[in-house]
Formats: sequence, structure tokens, C-alpha cells
Amino acid sequence: MKPTALVAGNWKMNGLAESRSELETLSKLLKEGTEAGCNVLICPPYTLISSFAAMNAESIAIGAQDCHAKASGAHTGDISAQMLRDAGAEYVIVGHSERRADHGESSALVCAKANAVLSEGLRAIVCVGETEAERDAGSTLTVVLGQLAESIPESATPDNMIVAYEPVWAIGTGRTPTTDDVAEVHTALRNALVERFGENGRRFSLLYGGSVKPSNAKELMSAPNVNGALVGGASLKATDFNGIIDAYR
Ligand code: 13P
Repeated sequence: MKPTALVAGNWKMNGLAESRSELETLSKLLKEGTEAGCNVLICPPYTLISSFAAMNAESIAIGAQDCHAKASGAHTGDISAQMLRDAGAEYVIVGHSERRADHGESSALVCAKANAVLSEGLRAIVCVGETEAERDAGSTLTVVLGQLAESIPESATPDNMIVAYEPVWAIGTGRTPTTDDVAEVHTALRNALVERFGENGRRFSLLYGGSVKPSNAKELMSAPNVNGALVGGASLKATDFNGIIDAYR
């Protein structure tokens, strides 16, 4: 069985109540267009999860961008995976490079968060990716494979865990790696998953993220072992995001 393709939008710290209209437009575009051969996910900020989930937009799953590793307790300002499930989220992104950089999150913490996500019966999208300095130093594969090994919990399966490769230097910059570079990293990730999880490793979905837009999506999504996209900026407008989903039509 092949990995399930997924096109996921990470809205980051963007979106207000009025952004419901983007979800409505996306839902309409998905309904009217040729059926997409991929799952579609939107991860809005926490404040919009329950209202988006309650919209029950056909063919659009709702997810979150982070969670705490514990289910409840004295952690002011934090949100647990249990709360996210309660709000209607089905997926949780963990280990995004902006969390790793802005909040000093280690791969061990990312692994604990991923475990929390899985124990609530949600799917985790675990992000890995090198900085520009690490790429220039020739350590891309070492960095990315190290993050993968330390961030993915033992209980991961292809049904509850998705890996996203997001080179830090490609996020929000308009720059992307070449398709060959993406293929090299994704093939290394695939091999590491097969080494760890046996034949099951072939079924994990591997997303590429970093400056994906309608004009480059088809080419990036055609690289070997790329099973979808994690999209930031271009996921905020339904028409742009739909143009990326076109890669799977
Ligand atoms: P951009 O698509 O804006 O480059 O962001 C990618 C990203 O970080 C998605 O998680």
C-alpha cells in the first residue's frame, strides 16, 4: 500500500474569526473541482480550531500547530493534545522549526509531544529540517536523520504519524531546494524509516514544506518519496491552497 498523500496548511499565527470565509471557499473549491487524490488539512491557530471543526467542511480535516506533552496540569498558557481532540482537531504538528528555534524545543521534547498526540488517538506531523548553515556545511542528512531518530516515538505507525521535511532556509523565503535535493533527503528519510519500522516504513507519508506555491507544487510533489506538502503562506488564501492541491488532481 502506498503512503497517503496529504496537503496540509499551517496558518501559523494568522487568522481571525472572519477567516471562516477562506475555509468556506476552500470547501466550495474542493466540492466543485475534480476530486483531489490527497487528504486536505488546515491547521489554524488554537483560537479557531473548534469553530473550524464545527463547520464540518467536507473533505477538510482540522489540526493544531503544537501541544504540551502533558494531558493537563499547572502549565499556564499551554494547550494539551486532549484539549485539541476535544476541540475537534484530528492532527497536531509538532517540532516545527519555528517552535524549535523560538521556544528552544529539543527533539526529546518533540518526541514527548508526539507521544501525547498519539495517546489521544490523533495523528502527529513531526517536522525536521536543516538550517542554511547546516546545509552549507554539508550536514543536511546528519541533522535531519538525527532529528528524525530522536523525535519519532516507538509507538509511531504509518497511520498515526507523518513526517514533514522543511528546510529552515526555505520557509517563507521563496527559495526551495531543487527537486533532486528534496528527493535525496526524502529518500534518506524513507530508508531510515524502513530500517527502524521494517516494511511499514514504506507507508509513512513524507511531506515537503518550505515556499510551496501553486507554481512549484507539481514539480516538488513529483519527487520520489514526496507524499504531500506542508504549506505556510500559500495556505492562507483558499484559491492558492487549492492551486497546490491541483498537484494531486
Ligand atoms: P511557507 O510555505 O510560508 O514557506 O512555510 C512553510 C512552513 O513552515 C509550513 O509549516
